[in-house]
Amino acid sequence: TTERTLVLVKPDGVSRGLTGAILARVEAKGYRIAALAQLTPSRDLLAKHYAEHEGKPFYEPLLEFMESGPVVAAVFEGERVIEGFRSLAGATDPTAAAPGTIRGDFGRDWGLKVQQNLVHGSDSVESAEREIGIWFPA
Ligand code: CMP
Repeated sequence: TTERTLVLVKPDGVSRGLTGAILARVEAKGYRIAALAQLTPSRDLLAKHYAEHEGKPFYEPLLEFMESGPVVAAVFEGERVIEGFRSLAGATDPTAAAPGTIRGDFGRDWGLKVQQNLVHGSDSVESAEREIGIWFPA
């Protein structure tokens, strides 16, 4: 059945001018953009989005990184888009992510306390619906 997923181009992707290249890969695989916005997220929004990571050692650096500049948020839809986008994105650690993936081709370790890994994608139908509600209220 058709799914929706939340994709974020994180501040590293936007500031490096990779938004178009990243979204183009997702569109070229055959998924359709259902919503698109650019915003600098508030702490409140990020605390909701990353609630499951509260208390982890990378939580504070992660929120600081994510609120450091504009983020592009997109809802993509299609059959099995959640799994399909995660496959396109590659492994969380951009140094280890396979070439051919977004993180593997465009990312690396910059020596900071957070993985600056260019993109986020929802990991399940439940988290997709929750996250879409946070980034696209109404
Ligand atoms: P994301 O998919 O947005 O979800 C949580 C984010 O935290 C993740 O991408 C990375 O940016 C970051 N992250 C996850 N694990 C670590 C880690 N071990 N060290 C630093 N940052 C991490």
